[in-house]
Amino acid sequence: MLVKMSMSDLKTYINERCALVDAALHQFIPSADTSPATIHKAMRHSMFAGGKRLRPILCLAAAETCGGDLDSAMKAACAVECLHTYSLIHDDLPCMDNDDFRRGVPTCHKVFGDGIAVLAGDALQALAFELVARIPANGTYNAADYVLELAVTAGSRHLIGGQVMDLEGEGKKLPLEDLRYVHESKTAALLTSSIKLGGMSAGASRQQLKALHTFGWDTGLAFQIIDDILDVTQTSEKLGKSAGKDLATNKSTYPALLGLEGARQEADRLTAEAMKALDIFGTAADRLRQLAKHLFSRES
Ligand code: IPE
Ligand code: IPE
Ligand code: MG
Ligand code: MG
Ligand code: MG
Repeated sequence: MLVKMSMSDLKTYINERCALVDAALHQFIPSADTSPATIHKAMRHSMFAGGKRLRPILCLAAAETCGGDLDSAMKAACAVECLHTYSLIHDDLPCMDNDDFRRGVPTCHKVFGDGIAVLAGDALQALAFELVARIPANGTYNAADYVLELAVTAGSRHLIGGQVMDLEGEGKKLPLEDLRYVHESKTAALLTSSIKLGGMSAGASRQQLKALHTFGWDTGLAFQIIDDILDVTQTSEKLGKSAGKDLATNKSTYPALLGLEGARQEADRLTAEAMKALDIFGTAADRLRQLAKHLFSRES
């Protein structure tokens, strides 16, 4: 039974899901020799450098929690990974966080130049919308519903808005309430939509979707708090991206405001809150519970 799953089962599960998602992404992203080759090479460079694939894995797990199947959820899973990878390519640009390493390899702009990196991000974002538009309709949701879900999240009120506030907050000590808003916008919103799109592809009820929203939002904020913590506590090698950047660039972060222990406690509290939202699913949500714990205790 799902409830008896051990951590080693989770590892196998994650590896298997990563392989499935990667195979689908290989299919959906034009091959490296498709003209114009440079852009497809650049998109593939960032997409297949590694990446934990946590958003697609959560998407697929949410679909299963709602009784759906992998086939119907796979386009949603790949869409959110495309949107996420675009956001990373742009986040690393010299005009933003100016990072040289991502997913264990040189960043897109370091290899292909700023212009192609901007365009590779743009193209991945467009592909994300193409893919959500292709998620099969069911009796409850259709393409317009899927597109709307991702569009609101990707836009200036959520992901982009969060990135703007993150940039404008550099060198300032934001009050905790503002920092929370930045983290929810830049990170929790996409994590939430990843989970909701999985549920929607499975025809989730309104009540189920509401529960997935709460679960995603709390887990998503906890996820960014842990990202802030790992930036302080881990090596660049372990993270596959430059550690210690937040302090060096004077970013407002949870550890900066609450201390490492205070930040960890807040992530722990949010993870516990997130779990409560899953009660309505009973044991069908055990994978999501296990994944939320994994996100909290991850080391990279
Ligand atoms: C990094 O996300 C950026 C954040 C929103 C914190 P991930 O830690 O999921 O990065 P990848 O996809 O594994 O590279
Ligand atoms: C990135 O936040 C959020 C988005 C890309 C939307 P960070 O700037 O903290 O992510 P890392 O630490 O570079 O992965
Ligand atoms: Mg950033
Ligand atoms: Mg960054
Ligand atoms: Mg970070």
